[in-house]
Amino acid sequence: MHQVLVNKFGGVEQLQVIPLPDPEPGPGEVVVRLTSIGMNHADLMARRGEYRLTSGNPPFTPGLEGGGVIVAVGTAVSDRTVGQRVILTLDGPKLRGPGQGTYQSHYVLPAAHTIPAPPQIEDVLLGALWLPYLTAWGCLVWRQNLQPGQWVLIPAASSSVAIAAAQVVKQCGAISVGTTRNPAKLEQLQAMPEACFDYLICTDQDSWWRQGKKLTAGRGFDVIFDPVAAGSFLNQEIRLLAPGGTLWIYGLLGQPDVVDVTPLIRKRAALRGWLVNELVEGGMATTAYTHVLNRVADSTYQLPVAGTFSLGEVRQAHITLEKGGHIGKLILVPASISP
Ligand SMILES: NC(=O)c1ccc[n+]([C@@H]2O[C@H](COP(=O)([O-])OP(=O)(O)OC[C@H]3O[C@@H](n4cnc5c(N)ncnc54)[C@H](OP(=O)(O)O)[C@@H]3O)[C@@H](O)[C@H]2O)c1
Repeated sequence: MHQVLVNKFGGVEQLQVIPLPDPEPGPGEVVVRLTSIGMNHADLMARRGEYRLTSGNPPFTPGLEGGGVIVAVGTAVSDRTVGQRVILTLDGPKLRGPGQGTYQSHYVLPAAHTIPAPPQIEDVLLGALWLPYLTAWGCLVWRQNLQPGQWVLIPAASSSVAIAAAQVVKQCGAISVGTTRNPAKLEQLQAMPEACFDYLICTDQDSWWRQGKKLTAGRGFDVIFDPVAAGSFLNQEIRLLAPGGTLWIYGLLGQPDVVDVTPLIRKRAALRGWLVNELVEGGMATTAYTHVLNRVADSTYQLPVAGTFSLGEVRQAHITLEKGGHIGKLILVPASISP
């Protein structure tokens, strides 16, 4: 098997692929040969030393999600078989402690932490669905209880989480407005059927928020689903909240800065944080897995794949993710390790 290691916190030069003996499953465990490892912004933060809670100290293996084919089954496993296609549960990669992420060709874990995948879902998607769809569905449907006709602002529209959110909003009968900083991406998003935002706004000018206000006939947004959470952008979002609205912060792509929260009082509006792991803590993970798999299997949810890379191309994959020119999900496909 092969495993990616981050030897020291730093740049892509710290990513190294090492060969290891193929693993054996212990009692109750399976070995999954991963065909898909979804890449996430958090992987970059882990490599740089900005996400130690997940990574621990170097050397460590990054990666939050994965899926593939069972290649070995341990004793006392009766409900999984060799050849079965599965997805690691959201908390599966955390069971072995910090730093044992999914950037590897084979993953050993308890059989109970694998979810059988429907045949309609392609191998390349098996490890790339959870973070986009569980993050969006868990927040907007489970936590927010989004209602038909409500207005939802979705910044960083080109990210896989935002595109998943647009699809979830559509299913709820609500109205989505995506934002991007990049005029070229705006045009690309408009041409992509998966990016089913009802409206798109480019935030390259400070006055962008007026367009949002106008779209909502001056009322503002019932819900804002935000991974940016940066000073002036966050100030503008707070101004865009409708009375009683909620701004969910689920990422920190921007630089934290001073924020004026006084409009929240006048609007009786809320600023809340969201972490996808809450689905596991709240006993909702199985419901969420079933929902997402059913909707992907029947093509209601369609994840756009922005690019795939072998494990041997992991440095190039991180450079691509870091540049931010992609739209949708970048995925490591470890079947072959060579570039
Ligand atoms: N809380 C949770 O449970 C959870 C779960 C999953 C992901 N996340 C978070 O979700 C976010 C998106 O993740 P991802 O992996 O899908 O990201 P990604 O593919 O790297 O996409 C990020 C996009 O955000 C936009 N962006 C980047 N920096 C920005 C800034 N300073 N201001 C405004 N927009 C900016 C860029 O698009 P434009 O150039 O088009 O604007 C960029 O392409 C990350 O912050 C990640 O940590 C959180």
